[in-house]
Amino acid sequence: MNQPLCLRTVVDLRAQVAGWRQQGLRVALVPTMGALHDGHLSLVRLARQQADRIIVSIFVNPTQFAPHEDFGSYPRTFDQDMALLAQEQVECVYAPLATEIYPAGFDLSIILGGPATAGLEDRFRPTFFHGVATVVAKLLSQSAPDIALFGEKDFQQLAVIRKLVRDLDLPVNVIGGPTIRETDGLALSSRNVYLSSQERHTAAQIHACLQEARTALLQGEDAHKACEEAKSQLQKAGFDIDYLEYRDAVTLGPAGSGACRLLVAAKLGTTRLIDNIGIEG
Ligand code: PAJ
Repeated sequence: MNQPLCLRTVVDLRAQVAGWRQQGLRVALVPTMGALHDGHLSLVRLARQQADRIIVSIFVNPTQFAPHEDFGSYPRTFDQDMALLAQEQVECVYAPLATEIYPAGFDLSIILGGPATAGLEDRFRPTFFHGVATVVAKLLSQSAPDIALFGEKDFQQLAVIRKLVRDLDLPVNVIGGPTIRETDGLALSSRNVYLSSQERHTAAQIHACLQEARTALLQGEDAHKACEEAKSQLQKAGFDIDYLEYRDAVTLGPAGSGACRLLVAAKLGTTRLIDNIGIEG
């Protein structure tokens, strides 16, 4: 099995992509922070259906972590990531040196309105989307892919990136992939390793509660009541809830008559989990 080519500089990445372009090949970018699991790999598989060459970027982006968050302890499993990507026959891993993304004197932060200020993640992680938008804009500019893939697991992030691409007229097609789950419904996440075995068991309640709320909503239950019921169930199970909100699936504004989404963030001990579910109108 061939190891993916591992590139660490923009110059090398651009040369590689230029070569592919000359051959008329379609290029996909899957941005990640490593510690890869089946959720990430599902995006790689989706990319494979729509592109000839795949770049997976691995960069634990410091600017999206607040000082009290887990930048230092975020799982870093590079060798294992490379082995998983070799199995998927990924052509290229872009693992930039930090100075390739944030060279000395770097002075840009992208601050978006719209979905980035929907009062969901941004309320609890006020500078998170500035960091995400800035690094994703850099990665897209450096790799110039035809398509870029992101997971619905981070639903607000996906909406923010779609808006970023639209507002900057970036010539890339953003594709969202469905959330991959454990058999008990817990969404795969690199941070699930932080859960104790008791917490891991309880964590499955998030998806179960969202599913119940979804059923109630589809049966015509009042949205406020459905959300309050789900919140109180999660609190009883031991979660400390940041938000659980019913929103328009595109704007993330107040739910209207179109497609909607239930989005939740809640802490179990010191681990913060997020999830969401679609409610077809
Ligand atoms: P990371 O958390 O590594 O996630 C990389 C991509 O995998 C994101 O698009 C995320 O939504 C997707 N993903 C994570 N868990 C998933 C699951 N269970 N099912 C489907 N997709 C899943 O998100 C980031 O990194 C960063 O913010 C990044 C966009 C790379 C910018 O630094």
